[in-house]
Amino acid sequence: MDASVLLALRDPAGIPFYPIVFQVLYVLTWALHIAFVLLSIGSLGLSIYGVTQQKSNPNWKLLTGHLIQTGKLSVSLLIVLGVAPLLFTQVIYDPNWYVTNTLSGMWVFIFIYALIVGYCVYYWYYYANKAKEGNGALIGATSFAFLIFCGVLMHNFAITSIMPNDWMQMYAPNGKIDMSGWTFNIEYTRLAFMVSLALPVVGIFLQAYGRFVSSRSDMSKEYVEFCENLGTKLAVIGLIISAILFVFWLNAIEYLFHPIGIVSIIGALVLLAMAGTNKNAYLTVGWLVVVALLFSTLREWLRYDIMSSLGYSIYDYTVNLEIPTIVMFLSTFLIMGGVGVAFLLTLAWKVGKTEGVFDGSKDAAVTKLGNYTLAIMSAWMVIFFGWGLMTLFKNIL
Ligand code: HEM
Repeated sequence: MDASVLLALRDPAGIPFYPIVFQVLYVLTWALHIAFVLLSIGSLGLSIYGVTQQKSNPNWKLLTGHLIQTGKLSVSLLIVLGVAPLLFTQVIYDPNWYVTNTLSGMWVFIFIYALIVGYCVYYWYYYANKAKEGNGALIGATSFAFLIFCGVLMHNFAITSIMPNDWMQMYAPNGKIDMSGWTFNIEYTRLAFMVSLALPVVGIFLQAYGRFVSSRSDMSKEYVEFCENLGTKLAVIGLIISAILFVFWLNAIEYLFHPIGIVSIIGALVLLAMAGTNKNAYLTVGWLVVVALLFSTLREWLRYDIMSSLGYSIYDYTVNLEIPTIVMFLSTFLIMGGVGVAFLLTLAWKVGKTEGVFDGSKDAAVTKLGNYTLAIMSAWMVIFFGWGLMTLFKNIL
């Protein structure tokens, strides 16, 4: 592929801020996206097994309901957190993203509907199991299949987008234009590695969950131990499987001895040691975040290398500094996002730690954070719409 073609596909308006900032934000937000993808798939998958054990085992009876809830919330978080890397990727890698969306247009449509159906079926599973213990395994498995299918499609988009050399062949195989939008590419080792990560993620989650509920007197010691032991088993076996697949994948893309490849392997080995001993589950979760960031960096490094070898560097993108937009974006992200997330996390933490019903209005910290969030959101709406309308009128009147 000639670099001039890629450069011609760029947005002629340029980008509003320095490309490195979008790249870093992409790495950061994609790590968050994939963390919740893996947690949702892992907890949903494990809950299906739990449903089959629920009637005969009191530990599974309690855990299954919690796993179903965890997966259900994680799907909504993975969707929200998927939007951010999507925006950043289409700012700095717009040729890649839009060509992929054209070549695989049918799959893009199918993706949206598969996600909607998969998530609706998940709610069906949740209600079926809530109505009767041991119910809903088949419904849960259907939702699981839909969500995995969504992941496979996402993988197709990611892979097709880093194959510019083959785009022409995909668009016009043997010189005949194919406008069907059915382009589909798959890299089995990369995909298998990514899906396998669901096992260690749900395992480490269970270790942290065990520690979290251990302070509650309505959760027996036996239940806590059951969760922690199951978590350790899943984390260790899962990490070993993922590590083997990771090495195969790194070898296939010739990154095995690349600095980021080596650092990622070391990061994963430290994670294995931490999960295996389970001395402090919260620290393990913290380290898991570091490993997720390393993995996200590796993915981006690979894409950057592929594109640079074709003469496309994101750092050459024309920058048309647009300070007001950046100020609006950063203040939304940091102030509204920061306070809003702090409110939700504090609330969730306290709800989980409380036996019975938690009344947020009686808790000083939750009330304060809730009031700040409401005030900031109200101010944000006034500024956002006021600013937008002013700009609109200035341009058209
Ligand atoms: C159940 C639903 C989903 C699953 C299982 C899923 C899974 C995945 C996986 C496995 C990847 C990595 C693919 C690879 O690198 O080979 C990925 C990438 C990505 N996902 Fe998702 N995803 C889902 C939904 C979404 C949604 C709803 C959005 C956006 C709103 C989104 C945005 C992204 C973006 C932007 C990337 C990176 C693409 C790239 O770098 O080329 N995902 N997702």
